[in-house]
Amino acid sequence: MKLQRVLQYAQSLLKDAVHEGDIAVDATAGNGHDTLFLAQLVGDDGYVYAFDVQKEAVDSTLHRLLDNALEHRAIVLKDGHENIGKYVTKQVAGAIFNLGYLPGSNHEIITKPNTTIAALESLLQLLKIGGVIVLVIYHGHEGGKEERDAIIRYVSSLPQKYVHVLRYEFLNQHNDPPFVIALEKVKDLPTK
Ligand SMILES: C[S@@+](CC[C@H](N)C(=O)[O-])C[C@H]1O[C@@H](n2cnc3c(N)ncnc32)[C@H](O)[C@@H]1O
Repeated sequence: MKLQRVLQYAQSLLKDAVHEGDIAVDATAGNGHDTLFLAQLVGDDGYVYAFDVQKEAVDSTLHRLLDNALEHRAIVLKDGHENIGKYVTKQVAGAIFNLGYLPGSNHEIITKPNTTIAALESLLQLLKIGGVIVLVIYHGHEGGKEERDAIIRYVSSLPQKYVHVLRYEFLNQHNDPPFVIALEKVKDLPTK
């Protein structure tokens, strides 16, 4: 047997949660790998909302969708995921965040603790029961450890009555390997 690698595991969680006709969210579109993956899962009756603050990432994601003739299944927004509530009003089956910077691009444009947590709060309200939010936490870059610690503090404080929180991580790899945090909604959270 072979233990699932972190990115493989992240995708297998989404595959279990997102089905044809569902709404899904790629909170950090980047080069669009996850947007394409989600677009394949939701089918022609579903929809993916993808967010990124960089034009380069939005263009790259749109190109990837066009290359696969799946552009009609997604809307790619040049806006921060913290504004998700402005665009998404229907129940979400699954969402993914790949934190950090866009590989091969400006390493100073990174996801930040406050905006990531604001997006998580909105998504937890939008998520359907049984839906999942997957975070791939990269923490080797400058600012990465602060974001990692803030997220761990936030998700650890979520009451288990409403959300199950999991961490999937290889413990003996070198150089700050990424790990997964997954949130499964089990009950509607009280609105603030
Ligand atoms: C690690 S990359 C994502 C990689 C991507 N999943 C892929 O498949 O290529 C992180 C991305 O988050 C974006 N980002 C940073 N802050 C953001 C925010 N507030 N909202 C949405 N995206 C943000 C960056 O521009 C960057 O493209």
